Amino acid sequence: MAPRKLAAGNWKMNGTLTSLAEIDRLLADHPAPGCDVLICPPATLVQAMAAKGIATGGQDCHAKASGAHTGDIAAAQLRDAGASHVILGHSERRTDHAETDAQVAAKAVAGHEAGLVAVICVGETEAQRDAGETLDVISAQLAGSVPDCATAANTVIAYEPVWAIGTGRTPTSGQIAEVHALMRDRLSARFADGADFALLYGGSVKPGNAAEIFAIPHVNGALVGGASLKAADFGPIIVAL
Ligand code: G3P
Repeated sequence: MAPRKLAAGNWKMNGTLTSLAEIDRLLADHPAPGCDVLICPPATLVQAMAAKGIATGGQDCHAKASGAHTGDIAAAQLRDAGASHVILGHSERRTDHAETDAQVAAKAVAGHEAGLVAVICVGETEAQRDAGETLDVISAQLAGSVPDCATAANTVIAYEPVWAIGTGRTPTSGQIAEVHALMRDRLSARFADGADFALLYGGSVKPGNAAEIFAIPHVNGALVGGASLKAADFGPIIVAL
């Protein structure tokens, strides 16, 4: 089985009910996309997004199934609201909430137990890249953030260099290829179906660079931030995939 192609949008802390008009436009313009399409809106919009009939994901979940955790959301609650996926270990969560690899792995297990596909993010900082540590950082994050119960069916990996997120800067095709080849190797060494995990690139993906990025070996799609907010931007990215 070849990895499925996935165009995923991460709305981050953007959007209100009126923003769903963009999804109406997207679905009208692309009624039969040639890839899987996923939108991960803020938690407030998960239920309404899923009701549109588009695959929907959360942006985080708690590692526990329920309990006294004010402000948090359980994987089963996301599932109950109609989500099929959950983004975990995004660098903004790792930075803003000091999330560790072990916590990300525990959240992924919780997501799997609730029937969600975990979209696990990894990526180096600019300082780590400049120090020549990128491959070591990605290897360590993969080893620590991806739980043993991961399969190609319940887990997607997104490579998001921290310095490329929201900056308009992207790695060279060679740099993306190097990391994606490493991720494929590491997953294949650890999991029987490691060759089938979908591997996404994320970080300043735009209509203008999507085709070039999607041509890179082992890039099976994208995790898109800013350009996923407007149908006019996300639509061409879906088409490019
Ligand atoms: O998760 C997606 C993201 O971090 C990339 O954001 O705005 O650079 O596409 P952006």
